[in-house]
Amino acid sequence: MRIRKTPDQLRSARWFAPDDLRSFGHRSRAKQMGFAREEFSGRPVIGIVNTWNGFNTCHTHFPERVEDIKRGVLMAGGFPVELPALSLGEQLMKPTTMLYRNFLAMEVEEIIRAHPVDGVVLMGGCDKTTPALIMGALSANVPAIYMPAGPMLRGHWKDITLGSGTDVWKYWDDRRSGKLSDKSWGEIEDGIARSAGTCMTMGTAATMMSLMEAMGMCLPGASAIPAVDASHQRMASASGRRIVEMVWEDLRPTDICTEAAFTNAIIVDMAIGGSTNAIVHLLAMARRANVPIDMDTFDRVAQGIPLIANLKPSGAYVMEDFYYAGGLRALMVQLAPRLHLNAITVTGGTLGEAIEGAEVYNADVIRSLDNPVKGAGGTAILRGSLAPDGAVIKPTAAEDRLLVHEGPAVVFSDIRDLKARVDSEDLDVTADSVLVLQNAGPVGAPGMPEWGQLPVPRKLLRQGIRDIVRISDARMSGTSYGACVLHVAPEAAVGGPLGLVRTGDRIRLDVPNRRLDLLVDETEMARRRAEWVQPKLPGGERGYVALYRRSVTQANLGCDFDFLDGTPGETPEPQIF
Ligand code: FES
Repeated sequence: MRIRKTPDQLRSARWFAPDDLRSFGHRSRAKQMGFAREEFSGRPVIGIVNTWNGFNTCHTHFPERVEDIKRGVLMAGGFPVELPALSLGEQLMKPTTMLYRNFLAMEVEEIIRAHPVDGVVLMGGCDKTTPALIMGALSANVPAIYMPAGPMLRGHWKDITLGSGTDVWKYWDDRRSGKLSDKSWGEIEDGIARSAGTCMTMGTAATMMSLMEAMGMCLPGASAIPAVDASHQRMASASGRRIVEMVWEDLRPTDICTEAAFTNAIIVDMAIGGSTNAIVHLLAMARRANVPIDMDTFDRVAQGIPLIANLKPSGAYVMEDFYYAGGLRALMVQLAPRLHLNAITVTGGTLGEAIEGAEVYNADVIRSLDNPVKGAGGTAILRGSLAPDGAVIKPTAAEDRLLVHEGPAVVFSDIRDLKARVDSEDLDVTADSVLVLQNAGPVGAPGMPEWGQLPVPRKLLRQGIRDIVRISDARMSGTSYGACVLHVAPEAAVGGPLGLVRTGDRIRLDVPNRRLDLLVDETEMARRRAEWVQPKLPGGERGYVALYRRSVTQANLGCDFDFLDGTPGETPEPQIF
């Protein structure tokens, strides 16, 4: 440990040390809670930012983990204080947790800044909790360590392993086409989520937990530990011990989340077949850290990185298998020649040191670079007349025949229109059609929900068709699959070309050449632009939604609030009078 701070230089000393009236109040009220002065004064005060609530199905183990973290903090000589924060439970929170990612990010930043904490442990995992915690911590920029929630155990039905989300979509299509009984559907419901922890496919939660390890924001090996494994408790305690040392070392998020760290995250994202949502979150985090990455960085950095994690939805296994196979450290060993191994992690050492000695124990789960699951191109960034500021597709999750495709548009003006008509027998749709969903972006929906995996129309399912080109300004669950073009920017609701598409227009998708074009001539487009008026958008015109709509940036900029952009610089400290 390289000590850079003395007790009188602790941030919390500003509250507790001075011999003045205000500090008397701080100390006397700490004592009111039963703490002696030597317990909270002169030692690192560690805030434990806990994103638990009774509706977050993935964080049900957090009340126990808080105690594990506290044990670690106390053992290392710190003083732990729990700071509950908004929980973003992906399943039960509506209309979408993405609407509230920035809300949590702001809350995290402000609860750190406003309180006498010297360092924080960030407890998260369920989808948006991870980016929100890191965004807030970057802006507050006090020493921070991330404690990933860990994935749940593998799902189980008969002798079949079930993967979160991925197998739901698959069996739901079977049910819609009449191939699956009610009894089987009920059994799947019983067996697909068997323990505490996040979705156990390589969805957004597992992706973001993995990327935080790749960036060095959690302890090495932490991201894949199943939530209910005893190792997870020990990792939580170790995170508590380590954050106390990080305070003395003055090791801050901006020291760790450098351009090298973001580059490592993008490389790992490609190798694990990560969720498309990671792009939006990494862009937002990078802007908080003042690191210059943009949509094109993903395509450039991803060159030549194949998919080597054989995990659903792009592969065959789930996170529990990945953990037993060696986890992310072993995967990063395969990628070592491409990674910035000198990047610093929360350990204070380098990424190279963090992965030293890691081995692959199952070479079918974690493949080598010369025996990948699929070749390079896990995520592709598209541009063209339909997406001037970019769009995203996950080619590894789509049927190959659709990666170069031209067909007539079938347009749905919003999610209600989609729900009302997609399964109609009258819908004029064929396997060549291109389904288009408008007004599902950050401003339009609002909150850019995961509506981007538009359902394949029932009449096509009955013909045995399971994939079709779909385009929207929405996101897609990381557990989903299909030829879904997502994050189209600018979105329909702010006047982007997506909002000008009409049923019957021809659309051309060309993934190898990274193009997405609306084949309508410019005179006609100019006429449509002149006629366009913003549709009445759902979600109200007051409160948080109004703030969100006014301030959210487009997907290519990360969907953060425009007033939170830019470098955190020196932490602006609250005045204490
Ligand atoms: Fe929480 Fe998927 S619902 S991670």
